[in-house]
Amino acid sequence: METVVSGIRPTGKLHIGNYFGAVANFLKMQYEYNCYFFIADIHSLTTHPTPADLHNSVRQVLAENIAVGLDIDKCTLFIQSDVPEIPELYTYLNMNAYKGELERAASFKEKVRSNPDNVNAGLLTYPVLMATDILIHKAHKVPVGKDQEQHLEMTRTFGNRFNRLYNVEYFPEAQAFSYSDKLVKVPGLTGVGKMSKSGGDADAIFLADDEAVNTKKIMRAKTDAGPTQPNQKKPDEVQNLFDLMKLVSAMDVIENFDSAYNNCSIRYGDMKKQLAYDMEVFLKPIREKIADALKNETVLAQAAKLGAEKARESASKTLKEVREIIGFRKFY
Ligand code: ADP
Ligand code: TRP
Repeated sequence: METVVSGIRPTGKLHIGNYFGAVANFLKMQYEYNCYFFIADIHSLTTHPTPADLHNSVRQVLAENIAVGLDIDKCTLFIQSDVPEIPELYTYLNMNAYKGELERAASFKEKVRSNPDNVNAGLLTYPVLMATDILIHKAHKVPVGKDQEQHLEMTRTFGNRFNRLYNVEYFPEAQAFSYSDKLVKVPGLTGVGKMSKSGGDADAIFLADDEAVNTKKIMRAKTDAGPTQPNQKKPDEVQNLFDLMKLVSAMDVIENFDSAYNNCSIRYGDMKKQLAYDMEVFLKPIREKIADALKNETVLAQAAKLGAEKARESASKTLKEVREIIGFRKFY
């Protein structure tokens, strides 16, 4: 069975864009591959979170991933900092990563531009840490978005360079993975671009938020004055509402609103009410499970412990072999 690795940055609550764009793939993959999903808390140190913020974010992401249906007996769900083998392999791989190639990474250049006062070494070697995450489980497939493609290419470079340096065929080449060739893009509520945490509070529907908050956001979503001619092209903000409906509403419901749009009888208020209702039907069980998981320290502790054990088993095997290949041999 092929091995899959993907990291989830602990950056606050999950929204439905994260769910349909990323997590939904994980839910399916866990039954088809040997999966390692982890919370990338070491990666998040590049922005210096406070200890309390760091812990709360990791806790939230862990609870949410369990609540949406990652099965800790099927996949390995772990917290990166629970696996000390990762920083060790990262140290070794850093010796074969060159300053020039790290400086040329698009994500690094972007961070230098946006945060010129925090250009730390961890930021420069972020791709090495990500390569370590992948190589330590000798993964074949990595489900990530387009923005991570360059990091995956660097992972292959670092893995191949290690193989060449020590004349071994040890690390496999990991490839980006998605179930569909067309990546899912969930639009935001503000009418511009994809749903995103950084799009402001009105833009995203969070899995953990209550019905009143989500309904209010949907009812306030931008629309236009309504169609004036039959079969008119929908403006982006109206198309967005239809796209959101496609995620949670029944086909015939969508078709009814589509016909109403096309014969100019649509009432956006009714459509939003329906969307809010269907969204709530979808979100209610998830929200309840998130709340349960967050309340239940034992569930979280057991999940983290099991994940750490399984991840360390795989990671320590790799590390033992890597130490052997490098030439760290015991004198005692
Ligand atoms: P955000 O943009 O809200 O900060 P992240 O960058 O943390 O989200 O993304 C986490 C995962 O969710 C990535 O795999 C990303 O591709 C996916 N994702 C984020 N927003 C969307 C969206 N609106 N539609 C589809 N997938 C998304
Ligand atoms: N860099 C990824 C992001 O920003 C998160 C990540 C860290 C990751 N390590 C990984 C993703 C390993 C896939 C595999 O979203």
